[in-house]
Amino acid sequence: MPRLDGHVALITGGGGEIGSAIAMRMALEGASIVLGDLSGEKAEATRDRAIAAGGRAAAVHLDVASPESCEASVASAVAAFGKLTTLVNVAATSTPDGTVETLSLAQWNAAFSVNLTSVFLMCKHGVPELRKAGGGSIINIASQLGHVGIQRRAPYCTTKAAMIFLTKILAQDHAPDNIRVNSISPGVILTERSSKRVGGKDNARRLNGPRHLLNRPGEPEEIAAGAAFLASGDASFITGTDLLIDGGYVTFKGRMLSDGTTKMI
Ligand SMILES: NC(=O)c1ccc[n+]([C@@H]2O[C@H](COP(=O)([O-])OP(=O)(O)OC[C@H]3O[C@@H](n4cnc5c(N)ncnc54)[C@H](O)[C@@H]3O)[C@@H](O)[C@H]2O)c1
Repeated sequence: MPRLDGHVALITGGGGEIGSAIAMRMALEGASIVLGDLSGEKAEATRDRAIAAGGRAAAVHLDVASPESCEASVASAVAAFGKLTTLVNVAATSTPDGTVETLSLAQWNAAFSVNLTSVFLMCKHGVPELRKAGGGSIINIASQLGHVGIQRRAPYCTTKAAMIFLTKILAQDHAPDNIRVNSISPGVILTERSSKRVGGKDNARRLNGPRHLLNRPGEPEEIAAGAAFLASGDASFITGTDLLIDGGYVTFKGRMLSDGTTKMI
């Protein structure tokens, strides 16, 4: 039997590159999937791909910054497939670079709203449905930058670090409901969004690759494999953890050269 048979997964940011890879993998493993995205068009494209591949899928327009929209997306998922067992929080916004002196309060608040308060809102409305289904799992897509910081990126790093900690508290609060809550911290994943920062995918391979112990950026499918595992019965004893899928980014500070010196990353 497919590992996620009988699961119904709502994936925020399900039209994006990592979100759609997670959705496709979960559909392939037997889950019914609901894609929520600010871009209805992108959510529908993922839905159509999943259906064409033989899966069960629905798409909803979702703005995770809006409490009403978060509530409506959960209701839509339940209306589409009768229950909700899995919530995957992937949506995030591009946050501006800057320091506390140059960033505006509006920019700071927007980052927190889309990257962090969204998880609070989606869980607020998702948890009662997961409980009704007899339990389930929540997976929050954080970042390696929630573990190690980068200069001038306080809004992104801070929201992701907070997401990792929120995951641990959610796990404690909802263990009695048979709800497991985990996060995934990807390293640099080769998507349009991450590549744009360095001027394209070739540059991303060249510049970001060496920052990983495995000497390359990751692929969206490598995050999807971890998410499907955490959602499945194979992870039945895993809750409150952060799964680093980062090619060794966080572990790694320097590479030993043939002359015995170390090149620091
Ligand atoms: N790509 C990387 O290198 C990398 C590394 C670590 C963590 N991550 C995390 O992985 C996730 C996905 O990243 P990606 O590279 O696939 O990005 P992406 O831009 O392809 O996907 C993000 C999706 O979120 C959607 N979105 C944005 N604002 C939204 C809102 N208000 N409401 C609903 N949907 C909204 C976008 O439309 C988009 O489809 C993000 O949480 C990101 O922080 C990415």
